[in-house]
Amino acid sequence: MNTVDLIRKKREHNTLSEQEINFLVTDYTKGKIPDYQFSAFLMAGYLNGFNAKETASLTKSMLYSGRVINLDMIKGKKIDKHSTGGVGDKTSLILAPIAAAAGVIVPMISGRGLGHTGGTLDKLEAIPGFTTNIGLPKYISVLQKCGAVLAGQTKEIAPADKLIYSLRDVTATVESIPLITASIMSKKLAEGIDGLVLDVKTGSGAFMKKYDDALALADSLTRTAKAFKKKVIAFITDMNQPLGNYIGNWLEVYESIKILQGDTPGNLGDLSFHLSGAMIFLGGKSSSIQEGVEISKQMVSSGKAFDKFLEIVKLQGGNTELIKHPDKYTKSKIRETIFAESSGYLESTDNFQIGMASLELGAGRMTMADKIDPKAGIIFYPKIGDKIKKGEIIAEILTDKKEKVDKVKIQLKRAINLSNKKTPVPKLIKSSMSL
Ligand code: URA
Repeated sequence: MNTVDLIRKKREHNTLSEQEINFLVTDYTKGKIPDYQFSAFLMAGYLNGFNAKETASLTKSMLYSGRVINLDMIKGKKIDKHSTGGVGDKTSLILAPIAAAAGVIVPMISGRGLGHTGGTLDKLEAIPGFTTNIGLPKYISVLQKCGAVLAGQTKEIAPADKLIYSLRDVTATVESIPLITASIMSKKLAEGIDGLVLDVKTGSGAFMKKYDDALALADSLTRTAKAFKKKVIAFITDMNQPLGNYIGNWLEVYESIKILQGDTPGNLGDLSFHLSGAMIFLGGKSSSIQEGVEISKQMVSSGKAFDKFLEIVKLQGGNTELIKHPDKYTKSKIRETIFAESSGYLESTDNFQIGMASLELGAGRMTMADKIDPKAGIIFYPKIGDKIKKGEIIAEILTDKKEKVDKVKIQLKRAINLSNKKTPVPKLIKSSMSL
């Protein structure tokens, strides 16, 4: 096979076979195809698209560029969740212990913050001592002992994705639904799962701002999971405002603890229960998602989900005393309050700007070299549709970076749009699909 011929074939809108795609991915991963040729292939695919079969072939080649974890020695269905990311999205920390407490095996490999969104690994590492960088033997032993593990990607998992993602990042080929699908699914399938719940976000704080794009991504991910004979349920959910009220790594652990202890009002509790309900259903522990939601609520009210979270934290080296007494966590030097400058109904938020503001305070990375301040972030109180009175507290900012405070205050005030008319509350779960 000849690389130039295959690039030309894609450039001319033709379909590549499984063998042809495997040749390109495998030889690129081995360093036999140079970056400039693979970039040309990616751009041809970005512009002309890949059909469902090609997407499955890309996924397969990337998946088998590394190791697929065999979890057959652990009894029970292995179910994970993947979210496309958002502001204040901490559901993994909540639903993994809930589903595990209900008897589902949850092998979860997560990522770091990307752009304006937070990452599960950064949140977990806000817990002193908690290690996400665990090798495969420890990954399996934690899973065997408590039914859930929350870890980072190891170098054995889909190494082709790591290389290709870096190249996509610098060749303007990230925003391609087939390439995003292959990237996400190659990593998820390597975990050795039986089923997957997908949370595809849409709105101002999501990567897929438009509903139709989120729908297309959910469809592509679902079809690809099905091609690998995995059970899958996808939800398209609202990201026009933060999930919950806390944004920032420790702040999000704190809010997760509150939910796991039964303080569950609002969009965060609702979405977490829905996603864990779907995991419980796919894991064969309920006869419907709704029954899974009820079981999730029982896991929280009985204290079993919080105990499971403590067990996971302990097994992964984290300080459980701080989970039991979160108010003892080190405080930020600055805690500033932001007040509403006028009255009205909250019509919309610029959720992207809220995410960016938390990055400014130290909660995320502007460059890969930046160090995260786990304490930093924002507590953002109002929800769309709420009536706000002039002078009311709308947010608090927590940071050690005094020089950032004024800028972030302006950013947050601008991220809020008030209306004289009562505005409708956005639907949290916009649609769902399963194949
Ligand atoms: N997340 C991934 O893992 N891959 C992508 O391509 C985009 C988001």
